[in-house]
Amino acid sequence: MTDRSQLLSALADVVGGRYVLTSNEDVAPYATDWKRSSTGVPACVVRPASTSEVAGVVRHCRELGFTIVPQGGNSGLAAGAIPDSSAGQVVLSLNRMRAIRSLDPVGMTIEVEAGAILQTVRENASEVGRMLPIAIAAEGSATIGGVIATNAGGLNVLRYGMTRDLTLGLEVVLADGSVASGLRHLRKDNAGYDWKQWFIGSEGTLGIVTAAVMRLVTVPRHSVTTLLSVTNLDAAISLFELTQQDIGEALSAFELISAQSIDLIERYAQLKSPIAAGEWFILLEATSSLSGLRDAAEAVLAAGFEIGWVVDGVVAESDMQARQIWALREHVTEAEARRGSSLKHDISVPLTRMGAFLADAEAALETVAPGAGLNLFGHLGDGNLHYNVLLEPDHDQQAINRVVHDVVVKHGGSISAEHGLGQYRVDEWLRVAPDADLRLASTLKTALDPDGLLNPGKILPSKLSHSKAI
Ligand code: MLT
Ligand code: ZN
Repeated sequence: MTDRSQLLSALADVVGGRYVLTSNEDVAPYATDWKRSSTGVPACVVRPASTSEVAGVVRHCRELGFTIVPQGGNSGLAAGAIPDSSAGQVVLSLNRMRAIRSLDPVGMTIEVEAGAILQTVRENASEVGRMLPIAIAAEGSATIGGVIATNAGGLNVLRYGMTRDLTLGLEVVLADGSVASGLRHLRKDNAGYDWKQWFIGSEGTLGIVTAAVMRLVTVPRHSVTTLLSVTNLDAAISLFELTQQDIGEALSAFELISAQSIDLIERYAQLKSPIAAGEWFILLEATSSLSGLRDAAEAVLAAGFEIGWVVDGVVAESDMQARQIWALREHVTEAEARRGSSLKHDISVPLTRMGAFLADAEAALETVAPGAGLNLFGHLGDGNLHYNVLLEPDHDQQAINRVVHDVVVKHGGSISAEHGLGQYRVDEWLRVAPDADLRLASTLKTALDPDGLLNPGKILPSKLSHSKAI
């Protein structure tokens, strides 16, 4: 028997033969990312139905020398859940583990299996007046396990934090096949290391998340959604400062969309902006259990007009109009993809450096890709900009990445604010990351997965032998 046929029969014993996928047709949806920009060739896809089955799969893969690529809803933006082309990796899909194990509206927690779809979890919470405030465009396919593995951000980070701020407990299958059980429903727990944090954002390289306890919040009774256009970035940042003062903790989104992005949306997503253009557009949302938000938003808008920051603006009159405004923001990525290929840079810098970053990045880009088109948008309130370059056939992608990331580093920023490193950003991270970050990452990887069984080549290179890290 070949190693592969031994593997297939061992995995079939664990999960049942029909859940070990091998034909090209069955495997295809798990081997390519949703953008179709990365495709691998796995040894097989295995779909366990329980934590003990996941542990069994891990043990067999380890014994037979196959590495594992854990996969949730396959909606990531850095190809972190896509296998390589060696036919030596097993894609372990969590998509049969979808149970909502418990929902506690008083303690405001929900315990779910890793393969539960984010949208389903949010719907379950909202049925009892609670909300899991992770708002991403891929909520219909993203799974809780994937959201945790990538420490997903999204549209409400400003108010509620990243996924790590909303995760109370985890159950994880480790690389030796043992199970770490930490499904705690506690807000406060200072007993020892907070080990769940090691796995959140680890992109499946340290362990396989099989279940989680998430923190819920109350569903706000009131909300106001506003779309504004502003003269320039300084005006956008000044308006953010004013909004923080006057709307404060009720501010739940302060999204930035460039005029070029609106142009792409109008051309490729057939949507229309309801207001006249400025250099930038701002989508401002505030939510609260208390009333009075509309007056507060109108006052901010009026002040912005008076000072000369705001070119045009509209406060949504109905839920329908609010949804139309949000649709503009939510279609930016789709419009970008319909135009053609692009090179994404998911960067963050301190907000006070954003203007200088943009000026320097534009000058640097001009040296390697003169006149390149840009799709700039993001979560201004979090200092997180999607600096996406619209690719042309003659563009040198590596040169573009380098100049943009060098400017990010110069301004004290991060080359991956919310999408993770996956396989796309590994080289660049190794190039720019501080030594301490790389050394600690190698130490953790070596301690938890000494043989490199879990998702090799993601975050860190397959062989931890790069000179900077060790
Ligand atoms: C978003 O904020 O819409 C996504 O994170 C960005 C992207 O697709 O680049
Ligand atoms: Zn984003």
